[in-house]
Amino acid sequence: MTEAMDAEFDTVAEWTAQVAADLGPEYHIPAGCRGSGSPAALDWLIDQLALTSDDSLLDCGAGVGGPAAYAAQAVSLEPVLVEPEAGACRAARTLFGFPVVQAVGSALPLADACVDAAWSLGVLCTTPHQVELLAEMRRTARPPGRIALLAFVAREPLLTKQPEGNHFPTRAELAGLIGDAGLQIQKWRSTADLPGIPKDWTERVDAVTDALSDRHGTSRAWQLAERQSGRIADLLAEGALTGEMLVLGHA
Ligand SMILES: C[S@@+](CC[C@H](N)C(=O)[O-])C[C@H]1O[C@@H](n2cnc3c(N)ncnc32)[C@H](O)[C@@H]1O
Repeated sequence: MTEAMDAEFDTVAEWTAQVAADLGPEYHIPAGCRGSGSPAALDWLIDQLALTSDDSLLDCGAGVGGPAAYAAQAVSLEPVLVEPEAGACRAARTLFGFPVVQAVGSALPLADACVDAAWSLGVLCTTPHQVELLAEMRRTARPPGRIALLAFVAREPLLTKQPEGNHFPTRAELAGLIGDAGLQIQKWRSTADLPGIPKDWTERVDAVTDALSDRHGTSRAWQLAERQSGRIADLLAEGALTGEMLVLGHA
């Protein structure tokens, strides 16, 4: 990982959990989802994977754990979190008390076919080992393989425009990676088609961001993390990147 990614996914992840813990329980899930997921995206993914309380769900690259907590709250399932950054592992554990394994998605320390479903949200573009990560999700999710992705996709190859450490596939490249991992695409929906984010959710995320900025605004880690996430937000705003949700199964 680059220094900016470490700042965002390790240091700021842990600070986020501290801020959310201080603000109160209603801030925990929105704070834990600052990394990507909106309620409408998570609702769609939960629905498409037909998740129920009988299912185990692997969250690969779980970050602060907000999406897993959202699913746990929505359908009372038990998530298993995998996340390489120690600060994020501690954050998810502190805020939500879930089991968290510190590992990369391309070498999951999990048995074959040990979970009912798996998702990976906003993670693929942060690693060069994309086909390996997808193949590991295929290996660990029981057939028929209820697997979902939230992926940021480049309209055309971004070459030097992408922030250091990111690897945004084009739509065609993403489809190729999925096929190479032995998976097939069952549903594909853009996040642009989703309903808006509820006002109270946005207000809570903003309150967390303001508190982080007040406490840590002068630190190098905060400034690096903000620059990194700001560059991705700019690419999304100008349409060079789009958010895509995919439901996959074993090919
Ligand atoms: C944009 S954040 C998304 C976090 C979380 N999935 C969410 O939606 O809130 C990307 C996460 O991927 C993790 N990550 C980076 N490389 C990874 C890898 N090779 N395997 C698994 N996770 C990885 C980062 O540490 C970070 O927590």
